[in-house]
Amino acid sequence: MGYKDVYAGWKADPEGFWTEAAKAIEWEKFPTRALNDDKAPIYSWFDDGLVNTCFNAVDRHVRDGRGDQNAIIYDSPITGTKSAITFAQLQAKVAQLAGALKAKGIETGDRVIIYMPMVPEALVAMLACARIGAIHSVVFGGFAAHELAVRIDDCTPKAIIAASCGLEPGRVVHYKPLLDGAIEQATHKPEFCVIFQRDQERAELIEGRDYDWDAVQEGVAPADCVPVPGSHPAYILYTSGTTGAPKGVVRATGGHLVALNWSMKNIYNVDPGDVFWAASDVGWVVGHSYIAYGPLIHGNTTVVFEGKPVGTPDAGTFWRVISEHNVRSFFTAPTAIRAVKREDPKGDSVKRYDISCLRALYLAGERADPDTIEWAQKVLGKPVYDHWWQTETGWTIAGNPAGLEALPVKVGSPTVPMPGYDVQILDEAGHPMKPGELGAIAVKLPLPPGTLPTLWNAEDRFRKSYLTAFPGYYETGDAGMIDEDGYLYIMARTDDVINVAGHRLSTGAMEEVLASHPDVAECAVIGVGDSLKGQLPVGFVILTKGVNRPHGDITAECAKLVRDQIGPVAAFKLSVVVDRLPKTRSGKILRATMVKIADNEDFKMPATIDDPAILDEIRAALQTIGYAGA
Ligand code: COA
Ligand code: AMP
Repeated sequence: MGYKDVYAGWKADPEGFWTEAAKAIEWEKFPTRALNDDKAPIYSWFDDGLVNTCFNAVDRHVRDGRGDQNAIIYDSPITGTKSAITFAQLQAKVAQLAGALKAKGIETGDRVIIYMPMVPEALVAMLACARIGAIHSVVFGGFAAHELAVRIDDCTPKAIIAASCGLEPGRVVHYKPLLDGAIEQATHKPEFCVIFQRDQERAELIEGRDYDWDAVQEGVAPADCVPVPGSHPAYILYTSGTTGAPKGVVRATGGHLVALNWSMKNIYNVDPGDVFWAASDVGWVVGHSYIAYGPLIHGNTTVVFEGKPVGTPDAGTFWRVISEHNVRSFFTAPTAIRAVKREDPKGDSVKRYDISCLRALYLAGERADPDTIEWAQKVLGKPVYDHWWQTETGWTIAGNPAGLEALPVKVGSPTVPMPGYDVQILDEAGHPMKPGELGAIAVKLPLPPGTLPTLWNAEDRFRKSYLTAFPGYYETGDAGMIDEDGYLYIMARTDDVINVAGHRLSTGAMEEVLASHPDVAECAVIGVGDSLKGQLPVGFVILTKGVNRPHGDITAECAKLVRDQIGPVAAFKLSVVVDRLPKTRSGKILRATMVKIADNEDFKMPATIDDPAILDEIRAALQTIGYAGA
């Protein structure tokens, strides 16, 4: 069956489709129904089934003869280390850590924050939580202590598992002071921490609170897998919304297993035993779905890569890893490919390696610009598949189902909706639009298995953020169109979320930080186009009356403040002092118009603008920092 038939088959019988897919997962008790719509528009999948994620990702593969197959390949050009862990070894490691957590009082449903860089132990920690039904929340290492504190207070973890440090090119990221600072700032205090000591830096442990990763596991009994209901949260992953408070996306266990397993063959076209590599970070959704869970659930070997696309040591790193580890499908963000292209425009480094094992390159996380796709197609000589999804969905909304049927690629489109997603383009009043017309992208409810059922402890926010604008639909926050052939095009966000180097960030959160600067009376942050990172944040600050300090000092302090409060990953370096901000007569800042000016694009004068002359001032200010056609 080709894509059209499979999609039509799903549409005709969604529950039948997912019940069939659920048979590829091993359940302690198979669910009696696929979808529970008793509380619609809040839905849940496979909720009366009993299942364990770790058993499906690890134990069953060992039982079925994959014990000697590599589960994880660790390749760390940044430390000069390479190693591998088989499924049998992984089972032993995970069971032992799970045993230690259990011995220290972690029970099913308890939250555990994981704050670790790209080391195999991060996956071991995630799986150990899953093994005993604890709910993990992984926090990306590029966030500052404050962001970690916010997450601690929101999900109130009983324990935190952290590494002593992370490694960025030329810099050690000292995790322990960040962890200690976060716990100090947070109102909620975890009962204990487990610290994985890396060779590059050993952290000092706090007596009675911190336990060494190895020591805490000594002499404890390994833990067995605990079956949990299909609706049990597997994890919480925080993502940026429009305000400073991140959204705790909940992932339910049953749907997560079923959807990820389905995606590995049908989208990424790998068979059990193949090596799959997603060059992302465990702190992001791509890392959850396609470094940790998806490949392991499906019996694939996954690559944990601790390095950068360039500079570790050069632009050939990706191709070396693919060639050395026999990677069949490779997934990364367009930014990473742009970084490689900038350093090696002719793709000479590709020729240094035999990458004949590779079938296709998959791109997601931000808009894939045609230049980048075409360059990658040319230098790799392989298909390049853009696909579109979000932290909220956990897997592809629209993509090219290459394992089912490789559809013709239209550069600029992530291709077509996957089974499970009835994607529609709606106008402001919620009416479906015609092919080729630009509107809000919405997905008809219910969303498929694997997508978020709600936000952690915030069902109201879930409803308001996603279900209210278009009743009966999930609002994606993206705008775009569908063409006559049913191909989807993603054009822009409809909210204040920006995407910097494939990292989702909130301009609202940055504005909250800038507003806390004593000399700032008012501010706005926008995302301007950047040839490497896709977008970069730029701040506009209006100074408090009477402040007469050098503007350079104030903007430097603003940059430091955002770095200290949100983290280096915000990449907030540029801001300008202005006298006024362009607003509508009702006082709304015209950020979209400011973005157009910064990117030197044509724009329509907003009918509701209070004073058009301000736009010239904004243009002049942007020109001083190299934008707006400077
Ligand atoms: N821990 C601590 N700091 C981190 C970090 C981490 N895990 N990840 C990034 N940072 C820091 C960087 O060191 C940098 O700090 P600096 O301001 O001191 O230089 C800052 O955060 C900004 O990082 P980034 O925006 O990633 O820029 P970069 O110049 O370091 O790297 C790329 C640029 C393109 C090489 C890099 O962004 C990249 O590899 N992107 C791929 C995107 C990706 O994997 N996205 C995941 C979703 S699929
Ligand atoms: P995240 O939750 O970090 O995965 O970010 C999700 C957002 O990134 C989406 O809502 C889009 O705005 C953007 N995005 C992700 N993938 C794509 C893509 N293939 N094309 C365009 N935008 C994308």
